[in-house]
Amino acid sequence: MRTLETNRLILREWRESDLDDYFEYAQNPNVGPNAGWKPYSDKSEALKMLKTFIENDDLWAIVDKNLIKVIGSITLRNDEKRENTKTKMMGFVLSESYWGREIMLEAVKSVLQYGFEELKLEIISVYHFPLNYQSKRVIEKAGFKFEGVLRDSFTNFNGLVYDDCCYSMKKSEYFENKNRF
Ligand SMILES: CC(C)(COP(=O)(O)OP(=O)(O)OC[C@H]1O[C@@H](n2cnc3c(N)ncnc32)[C@H](O)[C@@H]1OP(=O)(O)O)[C@@H](O)C(=O)NCCC(=O)NCCS
Repeated sequence: MRTLETNRLILREWRESDLDDYFEYAQNPNVGPNAGWKPYSDKSEALKMLKTFIENDDLWAIVDKNLIKVIGSITLRNDEKRENTKTKMMGFVLSESYWGREIMLEAVKSVLQYGFEELKLEIISVYHFPLNYQSKRVIEKAGFKFEGVLRDSFTNFNGLVYDDCCYSMKKSEYFENKNRF
């Protein structure tokens, strides 16, 4: 996958050597459940998942340029809620130690640029659970438009069913607002 670079970050493919960094944030109960996945208690389970990241090739590892450490991930993958082949769905998580510095916004802007300018996508979607204020704020600050709430649309790992707050950005909106980036 294409490596992307921002002021503070490198977005690159995953490597098995990232396991310790991945496990560090993937075991945190404040991280995964907000994105719909169970925190890992066992490093070997985390390794299995990391191997799928390497195979699937649609999830960037977010690397802090100064520390040369993986601190999160961001994806552009097929959106099961939409049939448009020029659509991709964004998703992201960040290690809790790095929250509150607009690091994810930096990664999101870079992936939007890649999606619209290189992949020539028509629309990029993104979703958050209703109580996830932090994700909502990243999505709003990046300029996504709120579409509405898809009720009872996601069954979490613990069996709880959540609404999805739905947002998207069209190619035209990206290019209109690009200078804000
Ligand atoms: C969502 C997430 C990626 C945000 O990344 P970030 O780089 O911290 O984003 P920002 O710095 O732009 O902060 C977003 C908002 O959260 C608030 N925030 C930051 N740290 C916080 C904390 N520890 N507790 C509560 N709110 C916090 C900020 O004030 C900001 O709101 P504002 O712009 O109105 O001031 C990160 O919180 C995360 O990974 N959460 C767990 C996984 C997740 O929810 N993924 C998204 C699934 S849809």
